[in-house]
Parts: sequence; structure tokens; C-alpha cells
Amino acid sequence: MGRRAAAYDVDVARRDVANALVAAAERDLGPIDVLVVCAARSIYAKLEDAREEDVDAQIETNFKATVRLLNATVPAMAKRGFGRVVTIGSIVQEAPLPILPIYSAMKAAHLALIRGLAVRYASQGVTLNNVSPGLIRTERNAWRREPGGDWDEFSRSCSHAGRAGEPEEVACAVAMFCAPGASFVTGENLFVAGGAQIPGRREGAAKASG
Ligand SMILES: NC(=O)c1ccc[n+]([C@@H]2O[C@H](COP(=O)([O-])OP(=O)(O)OC[C@H]3O[C@@H](n4cnc5c(N)ncnc54)[C@H](OP(=O)(O)O)[C@@H]3O)[C@@H](O)[C@H]2O)c1
Repeated sequence: MGRRAAAYDVDVARRDVANALVAAAERDLGPIDVLVVCAARSIYAKLEDAREEDVDAQIETNFKATVRLLNATVPAMAKRGFGRVVTIGSIVQEAPLPILPIYSAMKAAHLALIRGLAVRYASQGVTLNNVSPGLIRTERNAWRREPGGDWDEFSRSCSHAGRAGEPEEVACAVAMFCAPGASFVTGENLFVAGGAQIPGRREGAAKASG
């Protein structure tokens, strides 16, 4: 398509990375119009069992890195009068998982953070929105598709659609928020979860048991 792309191998949990990453991207590709914050770590442990270093790792990667990336990009977007920010949340921000307490809390914090900024930057051409996936087939859950894994059963029960989502279905929602026509949509959260954010039984189960 004649477009240019660049990839940078960085650890966003490191404090000095955000400014350097943004500077490198601007040097190679020009001013940043769109920021999508996607990197996250999820470490399974009940709160009382969570190791201090795992708590810190999730806070650094899933929240503080976002703060630094927003600071490194959004003021410049506002100066230019155009910007699109999409953060990737999760269905657990709405329905927290006891086995993922820090991850769930950081996703909820993400949403509060960008909603506040949405208000602040609404008059300057910068929109900030959040996309919250349900179960999506990615590397993160590849272990469930190993021989003997529970992927088929697990993914069938994870949404009203009776399946997991695909990464492209999340990307579509992100692209929607970034479209020029989405200029009046800000501070929103969109679930991409096959309806899993809505309590209730799936159609098949409801029919089977009245
Ligand atoms: N898959 C799901 O079912 C699901 C559901 C709800 C929400 N989400 C959200 O969707 C987003 C993408 O998740 P995913 O399923 O694609 O997860 P994934 O397969 O675990 O991929 C996570 C990505 O984040 C990167 N990353 C993690 N820590 C990083 C760090 N400190 N610095 C730079 N990169 C880092 C990883 O890079 P490396 O591989 O190099 O470590 C990897 O590319 C996340 O925000 C996740 O919370 C996923």
C-alpha cells in the first residue's frame, strides 16, 4: 500500500523508554497522530498470593507505561489540533477476576485515566477511547490450545457468540475510533466480546433449560 512502518524492540515498563520511543518514531515516520496502547502483562495469583515484584510489573507495564506514553504524545497532538488515542482494556475491568486482581484493577484505572483526559482534550481535536476485548485467540492463551488443553470448551463458554474473538475483530474496533469521522466520539468504552459484558445465559442454554 506504499506505507512505511517501523518496529522498535523496547520494554515499556522502563521509565526512560516512552520519550525515547516516541522520539524515534517521530524521527523515522513523522508526527504521531494515533497512539494505541496495547502492551500488558497478566499474572495469575489471588491477591494474598501475589508476589510484590509481580504486582509492580503489572502496575508498571499496564498503567504507568500508559501514563508515560500519553505524556509523550498527547500534548503534541493537542498543539497540532489532531490526535486519536485508543487504549486496550479488558472485559475484566467490568467483571474483575479474583485470580487477576491487579490486572483487573489496572484495566479499570486505564479507563478512568483516559476518560479524564478525554474531557480535558475534547476541544483540542484529540479523542481518547478504550476498546475492551473479551477472550481473544492470541499468544497469551496459546497454552489452552496445547494437546489436552481446554480451549474448545473454554472459548465456547466465554461469550454469547459461543466462541473466542480474533485479533482482527479488536483491530476493527480500534480503527473505528481512529477514523476521521469519529471526531465527536471521545471518552467511550467499546466491548469487543461477543456480548459477554451482558449478564445472562446464551440463547442455546436458555432454550435448553427454558
Ligand atoms: N487475549 C485476550 O483474551 C485478551 C482479553 C482481554 C484483553 N486483552 C488485552 O489485549 C492486549 C493484547 O493482549 P494479547 O492477548 O495480544 O497478549 P499477549 O499475546 O500476551 O501479547 C502481549 C504483548 O504485549 C507485549 N508486552 C508485554 N509487556 C511488555 C513490555 N513491558 N514492553 C513492551 N511490550 C510488552 C508483549 O511483548 P513480548 O511478547 O515481547 O513480551 C506482547 O507483544 C492487552 O492489553 C491485553 O490485556 C487480551
